[in-house]
Formats: sequence, C-alpha cells, structure tokens
Amino acid sequence: MPTEHEDQRQDVEVEEQDTSYLLSYTRHLERQARRLEKEKQVVESERLRLQRELNNIRGELNRLRTPPLFAGTLIEMIDDSRAVVKSSSGPQFIVNVSKKVDEEQLKPNARVALNQRTFAVVEVLDPPQDPSIKAMEVEIKPKETYDDIGGLSKAIQQVREVVELPLLKPHLFEKIGITPPKGVLLHGPPGTGKTLLAKAVAHETNATFIRVIASELVQKFIGEGARLVREVFEFALRNSPSILFIDELDAIGSKRLEVATSGDREVQRTLMQLLSSMDGFENRGDVRVIGATNRPDILDPAILRPGRFDRLIEIPPADKEGREEIFKIHLRNMNLEESEFDMKTLIKLSDGFSGAEIRNICIEAGMFAIRDDRDSVLMNDFIRAFKKVKDERMVDDFGSLEGYE
Ligand SMILES: Nc1ncnc2c1ncn2[C@@H]1O[C@H](COP(=O)(O)OP(=O)(O)OP(=O)(O)O)[C@@H](O)[C@H]1O
Ligand SMILES: [Mg+2]
Repeated sequence: MPTEHEDQRQDVEVEEQDTSYLLSYTRHLERQARRLEKEKQVVESERLRLQRELNNIRGELNRLRTPPLFAGTLIEMIDDSRAVVKSSSGPQFIVNVSKKVDEEQLKPNARVALNQRTFAVVEVLDPPQDPSIKAMEVEIKPKETYDDIGGLSKAIQQVREVVELPLLKPHLFEKIGITPPKGVLLHGPPGTGKTLLAKAVAHETNATFIRVIASELVQKFIGEGARLVREVFEFALRNSPSILFIDELDAIGSKRLEVATSGDREVQRTLMQLLSSMDGFENRGDVRVIGATNRPDILDPAILRPGRFDRLIEIPPADKEGREEIFKIHLRNMNLEESEFDMKTLIKLSDGFSGAEIRNICIEAGMFAIRDDRDSVLMNDFIRAFKKVKDERMVDDFGSLEGYE
C-alpha cells in the first residue's frame, strides 16, 4: 500500500506533467498566433495592392469614357472670358474660355482643346512638336527680361533695334523700304550674358524661342546635322514670330581646315546647310536668327556675309559699373546683413569675373550662410565665395588644382 508520502509525490508528478503540457500547448498557440498575424499582414498588403489596381482601372475606365474634346486653334481673345476659335473642321466660333485655363497661354494661334458640346476652351495644348527635331530647345516665352541683364546697355540697345523692332513693327521697315538684318552675331567671352540676352529679346517680343547648340548638331546627332538644320529653320518659320538662337556657332562655322577628316566633312555639310537655309528664307520680319560665339576670330567669313550673320554685336566683359549692376540683379532677393554690406568691396574683388561667375558668387555666399545656420548673408560669406569660385576657375583652366596651391 502506498504511503501518504508516495501519494503526494504522484500528485506532484501529475501536476508537473499537466503544467509542462500546458506550457508547450501555449507555446504552440503562440506560434500559431504569430503565423496567423503574419498571414494577416500579407493578405492586408495584397488587399491594398488590389485596391490600388482597382482604383487605377476605375480611373482608366473613366478616362476612356469621357467624351472626346475637339482640337482647335485660338484666333483671338474677345475679352477675358470669350474667344474666337477655329475648329479643326473649319468654321469659326465665338466661345467661352474656362477659368482654369492660364491666361498667359491664350495667344493667337495656340492649339486648344474644345468641349464637345459647347466648344468652350478647356485646355491649351503644347505647340505641335516635330519628333524629328530633337536637337532644339523650344520655349514659348522665356522668363528672362532686359531687367535681368546687367552692364550691357549698349548691346541691349543694338539687339532691340535689329531683332526686336523688326518683329514688333515690321511696317516701319516696309515704309522706309529697307529690309532689316536677318542674322545677328553676339560675340564675347564665356558667361557674359549672350544666351541671357537672346532669351530676353524673345521674352520682350513674345516670340517662340528656339535654341540650337551647334556643337550638338555635329557631335550628338552624327550624320544628321544638315537635315536637322533644315528642319529647325522650317520649324522656326512655321512657329513664327520666332527667334532662332544658334549657340556655339563656331562649332560648325569655323574656317575650313586643310585636313579633311570625315568629321570635318560632316561639319562642312552642316555649315553649308546653315548658309543655304539662311539665304533661303525670304526676309520676312518674323523669323530672326541670332548666333553666339566666344571665338568670332575663327569664323568662316562666309558666315558673316551680307544676308547671313551680318550684324556683329559685342558682348564685352563687365566693367566696374556693369559688375555693380550684375551684383544688384543677383542680390535682389537675397537677405543681406545690411549693417556691414559693402558693394565697393564686391566690385573690387570681382575684377575680371564674368556675369556667370558673379551669379555663382552670390549663390555660394548664400550657401555659406545656410551652412552656418544664419538667415542673412555676411561679407565674409562673399569673401569665401570669391575664393571658391576662383579655385573652380583654376580647375577649369588647368584641369586640376594640384601643384598650384
Ligand atoms: N550681364 C549679365 N547680367 C546678369 N546676369 C548675367 C550676366 N551675364 C551672365 N549672367 C548670369 O550668368 C548666367 C549664364 O550666362 P549666359 O549663359 O547668358 O552666358 P553666355 O555669354 O551665353 O556664356 P557662354 O559663352 O558660356 O555660352 C546667366 O543665366 C545669368 O544668371
Ligand atoms: Mg551661352
């Protein structure tokens, strides 16, 4: 017969077995709970994915269901909210213009989308783009103005006369019986504002601004240079009034070299096409060609003949007054520490700096202030910026600063 003591031990054993069973069961349940939790997360993310897909499909469905818009051309604005448009099928209509449409874009000849029922203008479309014309940048109305240009009043004056006036008032030239120059050439050192000036004229005249970089015509689009030149001129005519700006003209327009590699022949063909395109378009007042170069001295004289780039406009390095103007332009929106700001020092230090470098100095000075967690710019920031920009110039000139410090 088991003693009382033995009885107790058995009870304890049973109890221990129960506990260990319960423990392992709990662990099992916990594992299961964790697995289910994970599964729930997976299912939840799958649900979100499907929800997104559903939304996309719904959106696409709605888009496909919306009635078509008519394409048309804006003839003119009658007042703020009404316009004369020409539908692509022919007749002209007087229609309302949706308030959502940007007024700036409502220019005669703009491509517009018209509501199917009311013909109201609901959208202004981008001008048709020739996909083959990949070598050019087109801007409808560049935002740069003459006020953004410092120290070039003489050049601005000249450009206004030979580029702006014929575009804005062609009748003046007709009345007197002279044809305005077709092409002008802006020449001057790098960073003096040639591109800036070309953009500003386009802004002021509301002309389409087309920029082609001559070096790209022959380097990036090998074998296509001549065709691209022809197409760019055609595009400029179709989208007139326009300003066709050919930057880095020397890349295709330098004097012929004796040795003719195949690359040279390509450049040659492109140049020939440029010359014939310039000769070819009759001198209507509404396409102006502006060329720019740092090296007028190496240009082929054929480029400068009458009827081509026959007006040379010098864009000189900025003198003292010019630099002050340029600083004022780029400091316009900067928060300066007025109490110690000293323009004279900036002018003195910037001797020999181009407009582009002055702009960089202002930006760098601002960056120094930001790095030091200040909200105004100190003279010391400018001093550091001068050093930085000067060092960068050395890198450009010599490839590296090594050995120069
Ligand atoms: N005369 C200036 N007045 C104000 N800002 C200027 C002037 N010149 C240059 N800048 C600033 O420098 C930037 C670059 O100048 P821009 O591209 O017009 O020079 P560029 O003469 O065309 O140079 P590059 O010969 O290298 O093409 C301008 O966008 C402008 O911010
Ligand atoms: Mg330029």
